[in-house]
Amino acid sequence: MQVHKYDVVIVGAGGAGMRAAIESGQRARTAVLTKLYPTRSHTGAAQGGMCAALANVEEDNWEWHTFDTVKGGDYLVDQDAAEVMAKEAIDAVLDLEKMGLPFNRTPEGRIDQRRFGGHTRDHGKAPVRRACYAADRTGHMILQTLYQNCVKHNVEFYNEYYVLDLLVVEEDATRADGTPFKQKRVAGVVSYDLASGELHVFQAKSVIFATGGAGKVFKTTSNAHTLTGDGMGIAFRRGIPLEDMEFIQFHPTGLAGLGILLSEAARGEGAILRNSEGERFMERYAPTIKDLAPRDIVARSMANEVREGRGAGPNKDYVLLDLTHLEPAHIDAKLPDITEFARTYLGVEPYTEPVPVFPTAHYIMGGVPTNIKGEVLQDNDTIIPGLYAAGEVACVSVHGSNRLGTNSLLDINVFGKRSGINAAEYAKTAEYVEIPEDPAAETVALLDAVRTASGTERIAAIRSDLQETMDANMQVFRTADSIAQALSDIATLRERYRNISIQDKGKRFNLDLLEAVELGFLLDLAEAMTVAALHRKESRGGHYREDFPDRDDANWMKHTMLYKDDAAETEGIKGLRFGTKPVIFTRYEPMERKY
Ligand code: FUM
Repeated sequence: MQVHKYDVVIVGAGGAGMRAAIESGQRARTAVLTKLYPTRSHTGAAQGGMCAALANVEEDNWEWHTFDTVKGGDYLVDQDAAEVMAKEAIDAVLDLEKMGLPFNRTPEGRIDQRRFGGHTRDHGKAPVRRACYAADRTGHMILQTLYQNCVKHNVEFYNEYYVLDLLVVEEDATRADGTPFKQKRVAGVVSYDLASGELHVFQAKSVIFATGGAGKVFKTTSNAHTLTGDGMGIAFRRGIPLEDMEFIQFHPTGLAGLGILLSEAARGEGAILRNSEGERFMERYAPTIKDLAPRDIVARSMANEVREGRGAGPNKDYVLLDLTHLEPAHIDAKLPDITEFARTYLGVEPYTEPVPVFPTAHYIMGGVPTNIKGEVLQDNDTIIPGLYAAGEVACVSVHGSNRLGTNSLLDINVFGKRSGINAAEYAKTAEYVEIPEDPAAETVALLDAVRTASGTERIAAIRSDLQETMDANMQVFRTADSIAQALSDIATLRERYRNISIQDKGKRFNLDLLEAVELGFLLDLAEAMTVAALHRKESRGGHYREDFPDRDDANWMKHTMLYKDDAAETEGIKGLRFGTKPVIFTRYEPMERKY
């Protein structure tokens, strides 16, 4: 086992990790550990844009953007975070431009902007053009640009290093009111080098988790195979809470039956959703902004059309995205990739035929709780010195119960940058926390247990059954019964997980082994999602309970928190404690959410 020592270790090389690394790398000795090659990170799959109230093509300002973010998130957004993000958005875009990102331009040479769901002028009056974009490959361009700039700043990358544990120690401490508590402190991480099968311990003064989401909990998802929630899972196992895990975003336009993302930019450029009768049904659900309503509303409306028998296709199980009224030259210039996806994967020609679409699991609004500096919280009031998180793994909470499209590429840039600066500044004065004796012991035990297991269950079968039950029971519509069904299925799957074996017993490039470990994280996170969903007895944003169809601000204007706690039991699960956390308000009182 090798031990490395850095000031700052960043886990994950997507947009948040690399934006953090650009800042940290200029201030402190920084390493980035990534289970992929950086340019294969999932940020590269983001398509339609990154929003900022540049007002390049029409009137706009950051306050309207803040309002839209808060209302889009159904008022569960922490408003201090939304203000920071909307204000800093402008510099975030200009930073990328200076780094060399080839944004689309207006004829005058300014960064062009397009419409996106839920982004409006003057508090909901009409859609506004706020999303800066590079055709429909904005995330790809961001990833390439950030990587080039990391190279320029000599950031050290450890590629195909899977981080499997976070080294946390606990010290006796006293709160301001005199009560004693255990203060967590971060010492480093333990990682597995895919090529050699060797474990590497990284001691660091600061650690930033930027490990992305957990969309592979679902079968129909826009997420890559690697989105297995490792960062959330590792943190949770180390006693760090998870916030708002019931809020999962279903992107309205996944290619039907496949889930592959077909960017909301299509609707931003004028595409229209139609049911089997050819009706533009969003006019009924969101009369003012129609197809450009926030994603939770559009996804539910689509699912409702299908439920009520107005779905298209032989099984009436999808709706249609109509681009046929757009000029082919416009489509080619603005939406080249996604129209090619429709041709390749569905054999549909978008110039002349509508494209079959249905909601696909896209984004986890919840995650590891942080404040606006990117500092991770061990409870509502206490940070863990030296530990930061940014991007989808984190819950700032800037997206509340429903994220607006293009706020994710923005989030990773704003809070990635903040985390990078703060982690490096902290490392300048902090001392190393001593790593525990035998720091990799638990990782060795975990890997040995999987490698030597001789059960009869296959990883792929358990993962597939998990995804089936999550698709069936934790989708756009939920009830107490459906959620309970998912929870009971997860318990059964956990039993089966105890009886696994893997075929590859080797040391090098053992993806069989790692998939088994990743499945463990998926099971933990699916359980967290379902438990939180069962508790929240209201409908808000991406969490729609048919048995509690209204938003209930009196009882549920609060974040849900799940803690690992040996002394507790929640929903029959030993070692799990449920809690809540207040929502931060600055200027917006909750209103009825009409579009
Ligand atoms: O539709 C899209 O292009 C996705 C954007 C996002 O999730 O922010």
